[in-house]
Amino acid sequence: MIKLSDRLKAIADLINPGETVADIGTDHGFLPMSLWETGKSPLVILSDVNVGPLKKAETNIAKYFPGQSFDLRIGSGLQTLEHGEVDTVVIAGMGGILISDILAEDINKTKSFKRYILQPRNAQKYLRAWLINNGFHITDEKLVREGKFICEIISAVSNNQSAETGYLNQLISKSDNENKEQCDMYLEISPILFVKKDPLLVEFIENKIKIELNILKSLKSGVKSDKSHKIKLSEDRIKSLMKFLKRSLANEYEYE
Ligand SMILES: C[S@@+](CC[C@H](N)C(=O)[O-])C[C@H]1O[C@@H](n2cnc3c(N)ncnc32)[C@H](O)[C@@H]1O
Repeated sequence: MIKLSDRLKAIADLINPGETVADIGTDHGFLPMSLWETGKSPLVILSDVNVGPLKKAETNIAKYFPGQSFDLRIGSGLQTLEHGEVDTVVIAGMGGILISDILAEDINKTKSFKRYILQPRNAQKYLRAWLINNGFHITDEKLVREGKFICEIISAVSNNQSAETGYLNQLISKSDNENKEQCDMYLEISPILFVKKDPLLVEFIENKIKIELNILKSLKSGVKSDKSHKIKLSEDRIKSLMKFLKRSLANEYEYE
């Protein structure tokens, strides 16, 4: 039986039994192999833009399921899929900008799939903003520990596929210009994590505060002449993060 890492297991847990799945940027192929092995997904597609990763997936298939054939495809992003060919598309372990570029390439095709599970390694805020600005609803979020990192997993559906309005979408559309700072924070720390009382949320925010405090410290000790504006921005960010931390510690979160 394939043993998934906590990160891949968290992604697998978001797949509903019976859903067909394409894993874009599959690399080792463990996620789709496991979805097939456990019987959760009747059809899985392993897709990658590079030959090396697909060879890795082939080697793993030969090791774990000798003689079993899997659907391996080579090509960039969603180019390897037909319109609506699978229920759920997983794009994990890539940067948020690359993920949004893949989604933007052929928006009609992108919106032909029922659901996305995305796990951006960076630029998470950029990806959320892209999703919201391009007709997607963020329906679920989850944090998962991987070594010293806390990974963010985002579930999204397009407005072609669901009438559901994502929680984050509603908050962003309600925010006015005065609330821009708060709205920015919602894009960085999803309100869904508060609503669901994600067990890693406090640590996730604390880590952001630690990073910003270090930035502030080095700004204050630096000699650059234009630093006062940057110091103000950094202090404001720490204040906003502290506000979010307080809410997460108090388990208080509601629509405002
Ligand atoms: C770090 S691995 C992630 C592997 C796996 N998805 C995971 O989360 O563990 C990123 C993979 O994405 C692939 N990749 C990068 N750009 C891609 C693209 N435009 N389309 C498909 N795959 C891509 C790379 O070849 C690599 O195998």
